[in-house]
This record gives sequence, structure tokens and C-alpha cells, in this order.
Amino acid sequence: MHIAVLAESLPGEARVAATPDTVKLLVKAGATVTVEKKAGLKADFTDEAYETAGAQLATRAAALKAAEALFCVRRPDDATLGKLKAGTVVIGLLEPHGATEFAKACADAKVNALAMEFTPRITRAQAMDALSSQSNLAGYRAVIEAAELYGRAFPMMMTAAGTIAAAKAFVMGAGVAGLQAIATARRLGAIVSATDVRPAAKEQVASLGAKFVAVENEEFKAAETAGGYAKEMSDEYKAKQAELVANHIAKQDIVITTALIPGRPAPKLITKAMIEAMKPGSVIIDIAAANGGNTDLTEADKVVEHKGVKIAGFSNLPGRLPADASQLLAKNLVNLFPLLISDDGALAPHWEDDIIKGMALTKDGEVVHETLKGS
Ligand code: NAI
Repeated sequence: MHIAVLAESLPGEARVAATPDTVKLLVKAGATVTVEKKAGLKADFTDEAYETAGAQLATRAAALKAAEALFCVRRPDDATLGKLKAGTVVIGLLEPHGATEFAKACADAKVNALAMEFTPRITRAQAMDALSSQSNLAGYRAVIEAAELYGRAFPMMMTAAGTIAAAKAFVMGAGVAGLQAIATARRLGAIVSATDVRPAAKEQVASLGAKFVAVENEEFKAAETAGGYAKEMSDEYKAKQAELVANHIAKQDIVITTALIPGRPAPKLITKAMIEAMKPGSVIIDIAAANGGNTDLTEADKVVEHKGVKIAGFSNLPGRLPADASQLLAKNLVNLFPLLISDDGALAPHWEDDIIKGMALTKDGEVVHETLKGS
């Protein structure tokens, strides 16, 4: 099985889909890995390190020509798709929600696309779950970005010159990213509170030493889907939540928002009026920026300042830790590798396996994912 790894084509994407460590594992498992020259440089992985690990270095054209599987971080562009052989498996973070055009382009190119975002949330698939591995780093990095933009310290400090009060941090959405943000903000010394619509989050927030703030009515008790994600809440719930949040947020210094609903725009949790009620110098980091943002004023990839409050909408926080993010994503791909090959190591995706079934957008020239079919 011949795997190709390219330099990512999306501007600003510093991650790479294989690292020297994962090349070693793939080669040991019987694969041949071709890495485009300089593909790992932005994540601090040199061509020499890949070569030492057993990869073959090549031009982009040569890597594409040899590929039976293309491991990528983000969606390949049309030019790249057009150069792949029929039957090639393309696997990475393909932004599959509502991606009818992309799925059609893959089907037309007879490329079999597997979207890591659709990895089922079952125990067996945990080691392959790239959304989790990347969200965890996003949660950490969001707090580091907040500390950078905040003109004060996080921990309480008692000095001869006086006492500095601890920062108050509020995390909205206590999923994978939110829980890591809570832990990181606590480590830096902030007083942390958090909210979510899923009841399971309550205990997890408390176990990290943060206070849970939420509207805990009947709707809240049923807000988690079988897949572990949040449902979209009713307008009535949203109004109650907004009232609770408005009072709480006015007292916060740092707010990290992470709320997402798969396949839907991010819920708007913070209005302009709520931002105006915050103290000058407060900082909001909106992890949901790429999905429309959780605040009225979020702009993707910008730090907006409104009445002294900074609202930062980094759309690719894991990409700001490219070495670690690449390492974890590449390991997710290594863990998926056995589901892509036959016993003798040839390319043979396990189409009947629930994990591959869940991830498959296209197969043999057809769009096969339920959410994208027939469009
Ligand atoms: P996500 O990235 O889709 O959403 C982030 C968080 O926002 C979630 O906790 C969600 O409940 C919350 N949220 C949505 N709407 C909200 C609103 N209106 N107000 C406040 N919060 C809102 O979710 P993520 O982080 O990918 O996963 C959620 C949960 O799934 C995890 O905490 C975990 O329990 C579970 N999970 C299970 C896995 C497995 O079993 N293999 C793997 C990863 C996560």
C-alpha cells in the first residue's frame, strides 16, 4: 500500500498528516510512504527526519502519481484531486457537513473520500478521533491566546507592592476543547466557571475544580444525542440561558467559547449587549469562529476590539501548535490504517466496518454518505 503525504495547500495551514514517528509505524506495518519535500517544515519536521524514518521524499507530482492513499490534514484542492488514480483513498479533515460539491468532485474523480470528522464516537474509534485530538489542543491554545491578549495576570499574586486579583474565566461549551480550556485556565491560576447544555458535562466540569453554571431544566436533561453531541436548543431555552449568561459574563475577565452543534451554525451565545456589559480589558476567545462564532461580533481570524473588550476568532487553533497537532492527527491516521488494508497489506478499505462506513463520503464513483446523497 502506497501512502502519499503532501504539503497542505490551504494557505496558513502548518500541520502535516504524517510525522517521522508515524512514518516509522506505517513502514513497520508494511506501507510505503512518500512525503512531498518540505511538507513538514512548518511543523518542525525536516526532510532528513522523514528520510531517516523510512519515507521516500519526492516532488508533489511524483507523490501523487504513486499514491493509493492520500493522508491529508485538510481537503485537497481540485487540482490535487484531479491527479489521483481512480480508487485512491483520500483521508483527512474534509469538512464534510453539507459538502455536496466536494463529495461530487471526489465521486467524479473516482476517489474514495473518508472524512475524519465523521469518525463514530464509539470506544473502538477513540484512538482514531481527530476531532477530539485537535479540539483538545485548541482548548489549551485558546487559554494561552487569552493570556497573551489580557493585560493582566491570571493567578492571584500577593506582592510587597500589593495584591493582584486572580482572573475570572468562563468556558462556554464543556466538550473536549472546553474541558481542556478549564484545566489550562485553572493551571494558570484563574477562577474558572463553565456552562454546557449536556448534563454529562456538569460532573466533568466539577471534577476539574470549576463551577458549573447552566439552566438545568427538563430540556437540559435530554440535550445529549446518542452520538454524544449537543442538540440545538429551543428558543425558550436559549432565552433562559441568555439571561443567566448575561449576568455571569459581566463579571468575567476571560471567556472561552467552544459551543458547536454538528452540521449546524455555531449557536450565538453572547450578544453585542452582553459584550458591552463586560469590563474593558476583558478577552473573549471564540473557538467556534470557523463555524460562524458564538458571539455577535466574532470575525474569523481577527481580533476585534469593541468598547475595550477583545474578541478573538482564531479559526485554526490546533494549527497554532503544528508540531503537536500534526503528531496527534498523524497518530489518528496510523490507528485507522489497519481498516484500510487486507491481511496481505494491499489497499482494501473495510467498507462494512462501522467506522469506515461512518466516514465514507464516496465509494467507486458514487456519493455514499447519507447526508450528502442525492444532492
Ligand atoms: P462539540 O465540539 O460538538 O461541541 C462543544 C461543546 O459545546 C459540547 O460539549 C456541546 O454540548 C456544547 N454546546 C453545544 N451547544 C451549546 C449551547 N447552546 N450552550 C452551551 N454549550 C453548548 O463537542 P465535542 O467536544 O466534540 O464532544 C462532546 C462530548 O462528546 C464530549 O464531551 C464527550 O463526552 C463526547 N465524546 C465521546 C467520544 C467517544 O466516546 N469516542 C470522543 C469524543 C467526545
